[in-house]
Amino acid sequence: MSSDLEARALARPWFYPFRLRSGATTPSYDGGWLDGIHHTRSAMLATALRARFGDTFGQLDAVDLACHQGWFSVQLAQLGFRDVLAVDARAEHIADATLIRDALGLAQVRLLQSDVHAIDSEALGKFDVCLCLGLIYHLENPVGALRVARALTRHVCVVETQVVPNLGGMVDYGSYKFVRPLKGSFGIIDETDDTHGPEASTTGICLVPSTEALCWIMRKIGFARVEVLPVPADGYEQLVHGKRVMVAGYVD
Ligand SMILES: C[S@@+](CC[C@H](N)C(=O)[O-])C[C@H]1O[C@@H](n2cnc3c(N)ncnc32)[C@H](O)[C@@H]1O
Repeated sequence: MSSDLEARALARPWFYPFRLRSGATTPSYDGGWLDGIHHTRSAMLATALRARFGDTFGQLDAVDLACHQGWFSVQLAQLGFRDVLAVDARAEHIADATLIRDALGLAQVRLLQSDVHAIDSEALGKFDVCLCLGLIYHLENPVGALRVARALTRHVCVVETQVVPNLGGMVDYGSYKFVRPLKGSFGIIDETDDTHGPEASTTGICLVPSTEALCWIMRKIGFARVEVLPVPADGYEQLVHGKRVMVAGYVD
């Protein structure tokens, strides 16, 4: 029964403020302190998808890498996507996303527990839209994860990440005779004491790209066009100030 599922959902705090069928909203962490980042990203994603696909969402499928409790997956389903595969490494998130999916009656959302690096992209095939939100800055192999995302993308991949300041300039690459330009940079963040955390890395060593690095890598691994998405002026401060970015990679 949907009302029993709602009662279970409403009895505890969530990472996201899910609006349920009754109109009630799940209580979110710290009295909703983080809700702004979720709402800003939802608005940016919907704007980018409407610009690319118009009102054809009913013909589209999507994969949501690192879906957590399914915030973006259920929103794609609510926009009308015909099939959404939500993937996360953590079993507890898959269980939570299943509860929310069922409470909202969104049968087109499927769940899969998998590390992003363990995904067999040949077996899963391609999806019109691939989401890779809030993930790559928790990884020690962000380029590998982006390659998985590219392999899963038929039309558009949206990547959202924390970024670090860029380091540019020229490098004597073995000798002054072999000078190479830096294409971007990564910062190392230590999450080794936080791997138990529900939003954290599973391995603890995290490579965070600069915006320049992310865009260069996305072009290099096969996105024909890469665009840093515009942020609403009243959006979440990290996105407004370029400390996080949402980037769309277009295959066609
Ligand atoms: C900061 S949360 C972001 C969740 C959601 N995509 C969002 O943007 O709100 C990071 C998520 O990445 C997942 N995660 C961490 N390492 C992963 C990995 N190697 N493979 C798949 N998921 C991973 C975590 O379990 C968590 O759900």
